[in-house]
Amino acid sequence: MPTFNECGNVARLVARLDEVLTGVRWQAIFVDDNSPDGTAQAVKRMANLDSRIHCLHRVNRRGLSGAVVEGALASSAPYIAVMDGDLQHDEMLLAHMLRALREDRADLVIGSRFLGAADASVLGVRRQLGSRVANWLGRKVLSADLTDPVSGFFMIRRPLIDTVAHRLSSDGFKVLFDILASQATAPRCLELPYVFRPRTSGASKLDNRVVAHYLGLLSSKLSHDILSPRVLMFGAVGAGGVAIHLLVLRGLLGLGVTFASAQVAAALTAMTSNYLVNNSVTYRDRRKRGLAILSGYLRFCMLCAIGLLANVAVASMFNHHFKIWWLSGLAGAGVGAAWNFVTTALAVW
Ligand code: GDD
Ligand code: MN
Repeated sequence: MPTFNECGNVARLVARLDEVLTGVRWQAIFVDDNSPDGTAQAVKRMANLDSRIHCLHRVNRRGLSGAVVEGALASSAPYIAVMDGDLQHDEMLLAHMLRALREDRADLVIGSRFLGAADASVLGVRRQLGSRVANWLGRKVLSADLTDPVSGFFMIRRPLIDTVAHRLSSDGFKVLFDILASQATAPRCLELPYVFRPRTSGASKLDNRVVAHYLGLLSSKLSHDILSPRVLMFGAVGAGGVAIHLLVLRGLLGLGVTFASAQVAAALTAMTSNYLVNNSVTYRDRRKRGLAILSGYLRFCMLCAIGLLANVAVASMFNHHFKIWWLSGLAGAGVGAAWNFVTTALAVW
């Protein structure tokens, strides 16, 4: 169970597990990213009284998917259930999931919010629509006939995680999708419907950045892992930066600013917004905060300035040899972008 600020939920969840898992040997591993509300401490207090409960307390890290993977790797059990720590998943399903695996009816059992009697109406219209789109995209990329391939609630044979763990993204929410997409051969899946419950304590952490990360993950899988989600997101942010650059340039020219000054201002604006968006989306899991934002920014600007020099140098060289303006421009931009990505990945984040 991944947790972030679930202090008000974990004790009740353990009580319910204890109720529904009679006759089963189980352990509950909470993976907490140092929640400010003291979730880890609450779990550790329970762990002191009950040896089945464990707290994997991570510091300086964030990410639901990474938390799930580390929790699974920390276990030696043959079957792993992944479940939210906020009581929204119906623990009654666990026994059915376990039975299906033990009877060898499946390798992976998914709790679905969108199958038959399932109900996800507490999500609200917008989230439900978003979930359906996410599921539809997931189905297309996986070419699997699943109603909820982005579910956060599933039970799986441990080897299916062990063998692909090193390839799984540590950021974002869609760990099930990632596990499915990373398998060499499609596992036998079974979906069971359940009613997604409302949250009674705490708040959801799914936001636009999580959505952006999922789109990155989908594209990465479409490229057969050749392009990482980070490269793709960095590229998308860069493309957005070009649009911002042109908008600012146009605006300033309209205000009567000279071309050279307008171009400088546009470039600086685009570079700054690229840095900020990359910091909060592309590198969300290693996000700089406080003063570190500023030092990171200075380094980012310096590296991008060198990237620009490389860009111009390569483009001029190409143009000198081939005399094809667009090819030269592309070559320069490609080298500059690759430089920016690699060096900022190494020296900024
Ligand atoms: N360790 C850790 N680190 N846990 C996290 C983090 C994190 O950065 N972010 C969220 N969690 C935990 C939450 O505390 C909760 O126990 C669980 O992960 C799910 O997070 P929610 O924020 O409650 O997600 P949701 O209910 O809005 O989203 C549900 O639907 C998604 C699919 O649309 C969940 O079931 C997701 O797992 C699912 O992917
Ligand atoms: Mn939730």
